[in-house]
Amino acid sequence: MNLGKKSKKELIDLVNHLRAPLSISDPRQIKGTSEKDLYKILAYSSQVGCYIMQNRRFRFINSHFLEYTGYTEDKMLKMNPASLILPEDRRKTAKNAIMMLKQERFSPYEFRIVTKDGQIKWIMETVMSITYKGKRAILGNSMDVTERKEASRRLEELEALESSILDAIPQAVVGLHERRINFANHAVKVIFGWHREELIGKSIKMIYRNAKEAEIIGDLFYSKLEHQRTFETEFPCLCKDGREILCRIKASRIGEKLREKRIVVTYEDITTEKKVQEDLERSRQELRNLSIHLQSVREEERTLVARKIHDELGQSLTALQMDLSWLSGRLPSDSQIIRDKTQSMSDLVDATIESVHNITADLRPSLLDDLGLGAAIEWQATEFQKRFGIRCQAHIKCSNISIDKALATDVFRIFQEALTNIARHAKATLCKVNLTENGKDLCLDVTDNGVGITQWQVDDPRSFGMIGMRERAHLWGGAVHVRNVKPSGTTVKVLIPLK
Ligand SMILES: Nc1ncnc2c1ncn2[C@@H]1O[C@H](COP(=O)(O)OP(=O)(O)O)[C@@H](O)[C@H]1O
Ligand SMILES: [Mg+2]
Repeated sequence: MNLGKKSKKELIDLVNHLRAPLSISDPRQIKGTSEKDLYKILAYSSQVGCYIMQNRRFRFINSHFLEYTGYTEDKMLKMNPASLILPEDRRKTAKNAIMMLKQERFSPYEFRIVTKDGQIKWIMETVMSITYKGKRAILGNSMDVTERKEASRRLEELEALESSILDAIPQAVVGLHERRINFANHAVKVIFGWHREELIGKSIKMIYRNAKEAEIIGDLFYSKLEHQRTFETEFPCLCKDGREILCRIKASRIGEKLREKRIVVTYEDITTEKKVQEDLERSRQELRNLSIHLQSVREEERTLVARKIHDELGQSLTALQMDLSWLSGRLPSDSQIIRDKTQSMSDLVDATIESVHNITADLRPSLLDDLGLGAAIEWQATEFQKRFGIRCQAHIKCSNISIDKALATDVFRIFQEALTNIARHAKATLCKVNLTENGKDLCLDVTDNGVGITQWQVDDPRSFGMIGMRERAHLWGGAVHVRNVKPSGTTVKVLIPLK
C-alpha cells in the first residue's frame, strides 16, 4: 500500500479502521476452558496470530502468526522466540510481557519483529499464563499493525508539516469556530503582540478595536463565506499594547460549506504600506498641481506676449507700411533708384508682418480664442502639412459649445505635441486627425503611418512629452492612449468626458 499518496483524511480513516479490530477478547476469559476447546479457538479464531510458548520455545503457532513472520512452522518450533524480535525492542518487550503475565498491565504492547526476508513489522501483542499439557505456558495473541503504524507516522508527519508551514507564514493565521480562536500560528506574536497560548480559546474580539467592530467584521465574513470560499478586506485591528494597525484580512471557510462557522483568517499588517502609498499619492498630487500651475502660468505668459507683439509691433509695422506707401506716392517720377529702394523696404515690412503673425500664432493661435478648438486644430493641421510636407487630413465634428476655453487649450497643446512627435520620430507620410464631440465626450484621434512606437517608449519616465499629454488629459478626468496601429504607425487617442 502506498501511504505517501493518501490524503490526510484518508490516513485518519485508515488509522481508525485499523485500530478497530484491536479489541481482542479479554484473554482472561479463556482461563478454565478445556485444552481441546482452547486448541480450536487458537487455530480458527479471528484475525489474530496466536502462539503457545513454553520453556522459551514455541509449542503452537497458528497460520496468521506464521504469515507475519514468513517462517515455516518447523523452523519456528525450533527457533528462540526472542530472536524474532528486533534487538532494540527485546528488553522492553520482555518487560511488558512480564508485567502483563503478572497482571500489572492490561493493554496490548507493541514491538518490531524481523521477518524471514528481513522486513521489519510492527506487532501488537497480549500475553497470558495458561496451563498447557499440564505445565505452565504463555498464550500470545498478536496482530500485524505495520500499516496502521505507518499511517499514523505519515499523519504525524503531515501534521508537523502543516504546523511548520503555518509558522513559516509571515501573516497571523487564526482558526475560528463560532468566533472563538481554536488555533493560531507564531506570527500572531509578531503582528498583534499576543502569544498564541494567550489567544487560543478566547473570542476573536481581542484583536479588534471594540466589540462592535468585531461583530461587524464577523457578520461580514460569515455572510460572504456562505456563498464564496474566500473573502478579503482591509480592517483596523488592535495590538496587545493598544496600538491600532490596519490589516489586510483574508478569510476562508474550512471545507465545502460554512459548517459550524469554522473559518481560517489571515491578518497582514499593512499600516506602513498604506502610509507609504498615501504619501506617494499625496506627493504625486502635489507634483500634478505644480505642473498644472506652471502650465497655466506659461499659457498666460504666452497669451500676453503674443498680444503685446501683435498689438505694439503689429501696429508699428502697419504704420510703417502706410508711411512707406505715402512716401512712394510722393516720389518724383525720375527717382527710379529711390522708388526701388522704397519697394524693397515695403516688401521687407510685409515679410516682417508675416513673421510677427507666425510668431504670435505659434505662441498662441488667436483662432483658439476667436473660433474655438475645431478651427484651431484644422489650422494647425494645414500649417503642419505646409511646414513638414506630411499630408495631414483633419475631420472635425465638434460644436465648440460645451468646450471650456482652458480645456480647448489643453487639447490643442496635446495635439501640437502629437504632431511634433510625428515630425520628429515617426518618418510618416500621412497623418489623420479626427476630433469628435458628442455632448458626452470629447475625442481626439491622431494617427500616423510611420514606424510605430513601443510600450516601453510610451511608459518611459523620461518621455516628458507623453507625461505632459497624460497630465493635461488627467486634469480633465480624461486619458491619453498611445499605441501601435496596423500595418504600421502610431495612434494617439485622447478621451475627455464633458460634464
Ligand atoms: N508618432 C510617433 N512615432 C514613433 N515614435 C514616437 C511617436 N511619438 C513618440 N514616439 C517615441 O516616443 C518617445 C517619447 O515621446 P515624447 O515623450 O514626446 O518624447 P520626445 O521628447 O522624445 O518627443 C519618443 O522619443 C519617440 O521615440
Ligand atoms: Mg515629444
